[in-house]
Amino acid sequence: MASMRSRVPMHSISPICATLLFLSCSFSSMHLCASSDDHLVPGKPLTPGNTLVSDDGTFTLGFFSPSNSTKKHYYVGIWYSNIPQRTVVWVANRVVPITNLSSAMLALTSSSNIVMSEGNGRILWRSNNNIIIRSPPATTISAKATLENTGNFILRSMGNNTILWQSFDHPADTLLPGMNLRISHKVHQVQHLISWKGPQDPSPGPFSYGADPNSFLQRFIWNSTRPHHRSPVWTSYFLLGSYMENLHPTIYMAVHRRDDDEVYMSFGTPIDSVSLLIRMVISYTGKANILSWHSNMSAWTTLYTQPAHECNLYAYCGPYGYCDNSETTPTCKCLDGFEPNDEEAWINGRFLEGCHWKKALRCSGGDDFLTLPGMKVPDHFLFIGNKSFDECTEECHSNCSCVAYAYANMSTKAIDGDDTRCLIWTGILIDMEKCSEGGENLYIRTKKISGTMLTTNILEIVLPVLAALLALICIVVVWICCFRGKQGRNEICTMLMLGDRGSTHELADRKIDLPLISFREVATATQNFSDSAILGRGGFGTVYKGTLGDKDIAVKRLCKGSGQGVVEFKNEAALITKLQHRNLVKLLGCCNDKDEKLLIYEYLPNNSLDAFLFSMFCSLIVKAQVLNH
Ligand SMILES: *[C@@H]1O[C@H](CO)[C@@H](O)[C@H](O)[C@H]1NC(C)=O
Ligand SMILES: *[C@@H]1O[C@H](CO)[C@@H](O)[C@H](O)[C@H]1NC(C)=O
Ligand SMILES: *[C@@H]1O[C@H](CO)[C@@H](O)[C@H](O)[C@H]1NC(C)=O
Ligand SMILES: *[C@@H]1O[C@H](CO)[C@@H](O)[C@H](O)[C@H]1NC(C)=O
Ligand SMILES: *[C@@H]1O[C@H](CO)[C@@H](O)[C@H](O)[C@H]1NC(C)=O
Ligand SMILES: *[C@@H]1O[C@H](CO)[C@@H](O)[C@H](O)[C@H]1NC(C)=O
Ligand SMILES: *[C@@H]1O[C@H](CO)[C@@H](O)[C@H](O)[C@H]1NC(C)=O
Ligand SMILES: *[C@@H]1O[C@H](CO)[C@@H](O)[C@H](O)[C@H]1NC(C)=O
Repeated sequence: MASMRSRVPMHSISPICATLLFLSCSFSSMHLCASSDDHLVPGKPLTPGNTLVSDDGTFTLGFFSPSNSTKKHYYVGIWYSNIPQRTVVWVANRVVPITNLSSAMLALTSSSNIVMSEGNGRILWRSNNNIIIRSPPATTISAKATLENTGNFILRSMGNNTILWQSFDHPADTLLPGMNLRISHKVHQVQHLISWKGPQDPSPGPFSYGADPNSFLQRFIWNSTRPHHRSPVWTSYFLLGSYMENLHPTIYMAVHRRDDDEVYMSFGTPIDSVSLLIRMVISYTGKANILSWHSNMSAWTTLYTQPAHECNLYAYCGPYGYCDNSETTPTCKCLDGFEPNDEEAWINGRFLEGCHWKKALRCSGGDDFLTLPGMKVPDHFLFIGNKSFDECTEECHSNCSCVAYAYANMSTKAIDGDDTRCLIWTGILIDMEKCSEGGENLYIRTKKISGTMLTTNILEIVLPVLAALLALICIVVVWICCFRGKQGRNEICTMLMLGDRGSTHELADRKIDLPLISFREVATATQNFSDSAILGRGGFGTVYKGTLGDKDIAVKRLCKGSGQGVVEFKNEAALITKLQHRNLVKLLGCCNDKDEKLLIYEYLPNNSLDAFLFSMFCSLIVKAQVLNH
């Protein structure tokens, strides 16, 4: 990398070059050597074979052909001077290639526009600077276009040095450090990076990259007009020099505001930034890549790439599904409490149909929310400004149309003086990911009141009343179960085991009435679930040994929020039903206290029981109800 800095700048070898040019090029219209300048002035057009080289030699502007076929198309572009495989970062005439190279030229006109033309006067491209410098005296130079060390080609008026036009304002497929991509606007349109059509075709391809037009809080890659990939939502506004969690450790992405009320995005590296060559590019295959040049290996290495897996494609896992990146091979899963809409398709790797609630969601106002940590939160959020975390929570809890929320405290007040970011969702939840690291908490509404019992429209109307009543009952149950202790003996705990929705066979819903045992009692019996009381752990919970009165008991403590396939679930439901019939194992009672779901069995010092105990029913929905016995 240091070698990039110490190599001989192009302009210092220009005398040799000029000589070579004179000697060798007089025989050919195709020049072999580069000219020395870093700028273009009126009356001295740039012709094929000549180039502009930035002052420190990093970038070159000139004519090139990306194709190695015989039928070549030519373009004017900017590339890295010292990288063997030509890496083009900007192309002027992407849409209209040069067909007659020998007559082409790039000139700065007296009206301060950069114009590319062919011999017959056909204009292929122009800078469209609309600031016209009025009647400059023919002898003075009114403007100058300079290729800067950053890779920016800037047209300035000579009088007051105003920037009239710059290539950084007209991005192609590449974002360079120091370049700003406009992501929110008052007057101007947001900017996009637009991919090449193919490896040898710089004309605009189908993929583009830029901010969501509805919110600068997230960015998209589009395939034509369809979302192809969505970035995580910003959780901080970064000032230059800060890092963004989700990118490579040495790369930051920043959002900042210029004085003209427009918001820009940029990226870079705070480390050794002058000598490190990095670029961000939207490839013709639809990937946003950040690459860094390794002079040792003489190759570009990828620091960051998205979408990295098929699973990361936009909405790949369907509604209420998410891509789990913490798996070695990222794969689709349903959110906790959801199951696939089309089981068979899901098993066969077609996830677009997504998932649905295992039970219909009935909001009863201000309810249980499940916290999903480490998530890329879903698309289609409403951004509510100026809210504390508690206010944000309240905003969602108090409104039944709110199904989820997320909150971030932005580290800087870069935008609108508001350092809060409260997001709420009212529709379907789509395009979520579980991040292998980073991510944020997503809070989703989970409170469900069985929809199967309430079938008529009349009941739909009285639902809020029932819901409130049931909520009250639940509170009473929890209170009785866990605070009244032994007095709660005669209460009944109903285990509602859910059967196959579509069938009326043996696996249909079945209720088992069990004595309710308080959480406190169970805790005492197992010495507060001490490690020494552990009999073993199953996939979906831990089994403890304890003593209740004079009885030895085994307590299955169901783990919180573990997901489980529907097939396993059915098997387990069937198994426990049979076991209950045959009295193989005696279920003494259950406890349902907030998140804690406990099943209390008679302890049989019998190995064959273990398999049963250790593999059971995290996903059985255990409902405690007080029945007036
Ligand atoms: C040029 O063509 C050859 C074969 O025709 C191919 O192997 C090579 O990759 C091409 N080079 C580029 C830069 O596309
Ligand atoms: C290309 O331009 C040169 C110079 O203007 C001209 O002589 C030649 O005929 C042109 N070639 C074609 C194919 O148009
Ligand atoms: C600079 O000069 C240009 C052209 O003469 C003019 O349009 C512009 O307003 C000037 N800018 C400033 C900041 O003076
Ligand atoms: C982009 O969209 C087109 C059609 O809309 C589709 O055929 C193509 O497969 C998509 N590309 C990718 C990489 O998804
Ligand atoms: C490049 O080479 C230098 C010294 O030869 C070494 O210190 C550095 O770690 C190398 N970088 C990489 C990426 O291999
Ligand atoms: C934010 O809300 C507080 C009260 O909750 C209010 O005093 C303040 O003016 C609000 N700020 C903005 C920028 O809306
Ligand atoms: C955000 O964080 C800052 C600093 O940590 C703190 O002063 C501020 O109260 C926080 N804001 C909210 C809404 O939590
Ligand atoms: C609930 O939220 C929706 C969507 O934000 C909103 O339209 C509606 O007015 C809210 N209802 C209440 C009672 O706040």
